[in-house]
Amino acid sequence: MSKILFVSSEAYPLIKTGGLADVSGSLPAALKSLNQAVRLILPAYPAAKQAIGKLKRLANFHIPSLGEDVSVLEGRLPGSQVITWLVDCPPAFERPGNPYLGPDGKDWPDNAQRFAIFAHAVTAVALDQAGLNWQPEIVHCNDWQSGLVPALLSMEAQRPTTIFTIHNLAYQGLFPAETFQQLALPHVLWSLHNLEFHGMLSFIKGGLTCADRLTTVSPSYAREIQTPEFGCGLDGLLKHRSDVLTGILNGIDTQEWDPASDPHLARHYSATNLAGKKANKRALQAAMGLPESDSLLLGSVGRLVEQKGVDLILGSIDHLAQKGIQLAMLGSGEAYFEQALLEAAKRYPDNISVQIGYNEKIAHQIEAGADAFLMPSRFEPCGLNQLYSLRYGTLPIVHAVGGLADTVTDCEHQALHQGRATGFCFTHPNTDALKHNIDRAAALFAQPRQWHAVMHTAMQQDFDWRNSARQYLSLYQQAVEERL
Ligand code: ADP
Ligand code: GLC
Repeated sequence: MSKILFVSSEAYPLIKTGGLADVSGSLPAALKSLNQAVRLILPAYPAAKQAIGKLKRLANFHIPSLGEDVSVLEGRLPGSQVITWLVDCPPAFERPGNPYLGPDGKDWPDNAQRFAIFAHAVTAVALDQAGLNWQPEIVHCNDWQSGLVPALLSMEAQRPTTIFTIHNLAYQGLFPAETFQQLALPHVLWSLHNLEFHGMLSFIKGGLTCADRLTTVSPSYAREIQTPEFGCGLDGLLKHRSDVLTGILNGIDTQEWDPASDPHLARHYSATNLAGKKANKRALQAAMGLPESDSLLLGSVGRLVEQKGVDLILGSIDHLAQKGIQLAMLGSGEAYFEQALLEAAKRYPDNISVQIGYNEKIAHQIEAGADAFLMPSRFEPCGLNQLYSLRYGTLPIVHAVGGLADTVTDCEHQALHQGRATGFCFTHPNTDALKHNIDRAAALFAQPRQWHAVMHTAMQQDFDWRNSARQYLSLYQQAVEERL
């Protein structure tokens, strides 16, 4: 049994802006089910405090370099037995809404300070200096918000083994050089080999340069980020560390996302009883204000940002409408994309329906009610929605990149024939390729027997978190052994 401290800035169902929360809500529980002693630690945002319910104050301590007092509150992650520690520091975290953005949609101006406080608190816990009387062997950090943790721990002679997982290299936590002074970080960390990135302070580099092991969330993305095209300026560093970098695919919460028991659905269904799927299609059309129709219904759920290829979807809308195809879309993000999608929905009310906002229930209903799911992401470290789609028999149409390439098998002749096909993949992220693949989906959809066979294969795919958790576990063990 290992003692693992899992560090994240969001975790479902406490607080979520994207897939990182899904992972942080599931992986610790999967590790616990493999008999590991896991503690999840995240900032005590008001939403998290509220969602967790009963909390016990365990310890109070001071962070001298930042002059802040923090407390650690203990609760359980709802729906699991995972002990969860919330780092309470009201001046930094007692703010409503999104954990990273203010009400104006812009980053909180003191994000560097906020996540430095978090990192110092985690470091004190990791070194058993916070009064919790618990010494982890492994500290598993995720994304730039916890990037300073491996850097601060690297200064210690006696420290736990550190793992840093990249969920999205495009978000790096970059701040002006002065911030480095303001945060009173140890001088030795100001170097190209540590936190400096083109004259700026880079939080993610703390993880990338100092963690004992690096992982990312799919084998393909692990390769891609070592190239200039996907490396966001960090490909050289990642290539240099390629011997300690691995890709481990995310799993999915198979209870939360199960068409046979999902409480949000109009009718339950499963791979062996597909009849209920049609009722979900009708319910989705009604809920989204689309006319009842038997033609292909596409779904899309996600952040409306360039990464997700929203421009490609916009570029395909006239084509969809001409073909009588429907699209039900849910998302929020950049104002330009929100506006353009709403306008498209106004132009084609019988074909396109768009809900702007964040809504768990509609996300589940789209997964269940749509026939096929659009994910033309320009890059996708793993992607969870295509995994939910597979499980719901909603065939993904994807740009074969990162985790999308690793999880969806194209309906080309041989794969279809061998019963391996699960969706539609294209290699160049442009509108023509997306349109072409929507047409391919529509053509297969017109052959119900074939379509059902592919749905069946899709629904049979196994993305149980325990498979991924076992891979993390063996990586933890290797990393610990190497340091002995
Ligand atoms: P990313 O983390 O890059 O946003 P993922 O596919 O890994 O992409 O995960 C996104 C997660 O957030 C999924 O669980 C998805 O259902 C959810 N999600 C994204 N946008 C919305 C939304 N507008 N409403 C509800 N859920 C959403
Ligand atoms: C990131 C990525 C997404 C991944 C998620 C969870 O937000 O954009 O591809 O699935 O993290 O690892």
